[in-house]
Amino acid sequence: MDYSKIINEIYQEVKSETPQGKVASYIPELAHIDADKFGISLQTIEGKDFSVGHFDENFSIQSISKVFSLSMAFSLLGDKIWNRIGTEPSGTAFNSIMQLEYEKGKPRNPFINAGALVVADILISHLPNPKTDFIEFIRQISQNSNISYDLNIAQSEKQTGFRNTALINMMKSYKNIENNIETVLDFYFCQCSVTMTCRDLARSFLPFANTSSDFNFNNVRLTKSQIKRINALMITCGLYDESGEFTFRVGLPGKSGVGGGIAAINPNYYSVAVWSPLINEKGNSVYGMKALELLTTKTENSIC
Ligand code: DON
Repeated sequence: MDYSKIINEIYQEVKSETPQGKVASYIPELAHIDADKFGISLQTIEGKDFSVGHFDENFSIQSISKVFSLSMAFSLLGDKIWNRIGTEPSGTAFNSIMQLEYEKGKPRNPFINAGALVVADILISHLPNPKTDFIEFIRQISQNSNISYDLNIAQSEKQTGFRNTALINMMKSYKNIENNIETVLDFYFCQCSVTMTCRDLARSFLPFANTSSDFNFNNVRLTKSQIKRINALMITCGLYDESGEFTFRVGLPGKSGVGGGIAAINPNYYSVAVWSPLINEKGNSVYGMKALELLTTKTENSIC
């Protein structure tokens, strides 16, 4: 497969379209990002790297971080994690509060904000140094020891994070949050603020695509069955109330973030990350979805 030719074609085709979507502004620090940025990085199971555009520029991974936090919590708790978080798509927005009340404070899945807040609470209860341990895990899985939090972005979200504050208070009232609310929110805003490049992200998703190697990074160990479950959650819930559309168009497990990134995997073939900050009303990158749709169409290879 000539991935180099294919991703270069995709880059040109997507760039020639009229831009749609808006840069996220509800986190003020994200509003400054140049809307024209666009990068793609694809890493094959054999270790080959194909990248184009702004693939080597750092951006805020936001909700893509929820795959890393879930991996850590699942490694720590095993199946007990599902006593506190569901495994069904929500069909509602990533920051919706409606469902949470009538489902008595148990989030539908670990990728909506409420679910990721419970995951953050679990990490705070179980890790000796949650923020250090989390970033060290990302550094190891991405093979880049320079990855870090962007504290300006974390601070900016803290100042405007009223919805996340509402969600966590609701869950605390149902006793699904063990720790102090401020401590959990502080960790959650930090995990979302991590900045990475498309290449870092693609590298860090490769172990989810590689079914023949052991998953063990900085003592985060997952069995093959656990990786299957994380990938299943990505395909059913990774793009929130657009997960059905993403699967319909792309046919791969993926995870998006409001910073405009989407990371996806094609088991036993490759991992891929795309970044374009223009997002649609569901919070997903417009160019990112288009690029991944073209990737599985041109390669005639997806899991669906
Ligand atoms: O909690 C939030 O609203 C953001 N830190 C993350 C949301 C997000 O990335 C949704 N993704 N598409």
